[in-house]
Amino acid sequence: MFKRKIDNSWYKEISVYHIWCRSFKDGNGDGIGDLYGVLEELDYIKSLGVDAIWFSPIYPSPNCDWGYDISDYKNIHPDYGDLKLFKKLLKEAHKRDLKVIMDLVVNHTSSEHEWFKESQKSEDNPYHDYYIWKKGKNGGPPNNWLSIFEGGAWEYNEHLDKYYLHAFAKGQPDLNMDNPKVREEVKDIMRFWLDMGVDGFREDVITFISKDPDFPNGFPIPVACGIEHYKSGPNLMKYLREFREVIEEYDCFVVAESPLTGAKDALKYTSGKDRVFDMMISFDHMQANCFMHDTLYLPFSLRKLKRALSKWQTKLYGKAWNALYLENHDHPRIISRYGNEKFRTESGKMLATMAYLQSGTPYIYQGQEIGMLNNKFSDLSEFKDVVTFNNQKIFKKFGVSDKTYLKIANRTSRENARTPVQWNDKKNAGFTTGKPWFSINPNYKDINRDKEEKDPNSILNYYRKLLKVRKENKIFIYGKYKEHYKRSKDIYCYEMRYKKQKALIICSFKDKNIKFKAPKGFKLNNKKLILHTYEDVRKTKGKEITLRPYEALVYLWK
Ligand code: NOJ
Repeated sequence: MFKRKIDNSWYKEISVYHIWCRSFKDGNGDGIGDLYGVLEELDYIKSLGVDAIWFSPIYPSPNCDWGYDISDYKNIHPDYGDLKLFKKLLKEAHKRDLKVIMDLVVNHTSSEHEWFKESQKSEDNPYHDYYIWKKGKNGGPPNNWLSIFEGGAWEYNEHLDKYYLHAFAKGQPDLNMDNPKVREEVKDIMRFWLDMGVDGFREDVITFISKDPDFPNGFPIPVACGIEHYKSGPNLMKYLREFREVIEEYDCFVVAESPLTGAKDALKYTSGKDRVFDMMISFDHMQANCFMHDTLYLPFSLRKLKRALSKWQTKLYGKAWNALYLENHDHPRIISRYGNEKFRTESGKMLATMAYLQSGTPYIYQGQEIGMLNNKFSDLSEFKDVVTFNNQKIFKKFGVSDKTYLKIANRTSRENARTPVQWNDKKNAGFTTGKPWFSINPNYKDINRDKEEKDPNSILNYYRKLLKVRKENKIFIYGKYKEHYKRSKDIYCYEMRYKKQKALIICSFKDKNIKFKAPKGFKLNNKKLILHTYEDVRKTKGKEITLRPYEALVYLWK
């Protein structure tokens, strides 16, 4: 359907560095990360071998959801700088061949956005229909929906005697995408940034934008009740096609966040000429040690992880494109989840090897490349996220004490990923000369960028090698994936094939030595070993090898 005027398959060959600005680096001493800090570290970012930066929202926001509640789409939050500074950063990034991707959050705005303020004034205000306002039923809200973040999904407004819908926090009213004027606003916002020169968008919960017009009651679950009525609503494709038309005018790409979408459904959005996204952020592989998106923790299951990754690799192969990631601002740190803090370096390198040699575009989240770990918050008062507080209330209803909840939050909270980046072992981990806005992980003396930089065998230097290998060998970008030893609970082994080449990626998830026998058709040979996570390599003889704790090996035949 869409006739792309510009060949933009470059998005397949890049790697993306994800910045959550508030905790990246403070350049003006106010304790808050900002664009000055990003400017200071542009050369460092480039040195990783990445080709693009994705900024989580850096627009003005009252921060009820740390930026995902936008009060002005065409400006920069004063905490982070201003438009002039952003333009400078864009120029400097482009000078270094780094693309810049912005977060587009249009399922909802902030309740402080001018549109919402107007919308509340009266039913005949031109902005009233920008949001989803409904009359109550039987003295209560219009239906039984619960928000994903904060109690009921409907908030009452006395003046209008109506309720507005917020799928997320109260301060995040959902936009009424059925109103064509709202869609025009979205396109206008897209053009504003694309005309400035940005290279694409990460579209936030974009598959939630179309709601069932009947607003029926939802299946009664304690959180996000009703989600089935908007997770992929009736007009979704129509609206997404409209947005795609804007994308098609520019040399840019779109990565969409789409919770509750499996690999098969992803094809609908990301394959063929009618595709509305270039790739999607899937959630399946982030559920290998939890239930309901990090709310309830379960023991880590390698088989679950492998099943999820294999599904996306095989279902999308040749038809659509994967986004490869292990961390972002919404999940705890990966070493603490799927790796082993006691084997931080080993498991950090192994997890990266596992994830980024599959076919797709790698996304690396700030601090991941230096092996940052979950924080150990000592008190609930240290937390700052609406989700942590909401879960605390829900757990309380089920009789869980605050003391126990603290332990749960220390494992499950996404705030683990939001502590400031640890740059060095000096005061405040080199993040700020002021008072840090958020607690700094006390392990910063041991885990920091400068230390990683000096050690040739660090996680950081391994990421550099890994990204280089990926870039130099198209097999790791376009190759065909096949999993071996599916039933193993300790080893993740897969092959990639491309033209006449083949590669074998072997990853141990065991904290002890373990024997590994190469699958049929592969003869291990040190000469073919292009990546290894331990400094020294033992000679491989024939088919058998002993893998050390969390060791990863990559062989390439070409
Ligand atoms: C997904 C974002 O990644 C998350 O941080 C945010 O809280 C929700 N969408 C709501 O915008």
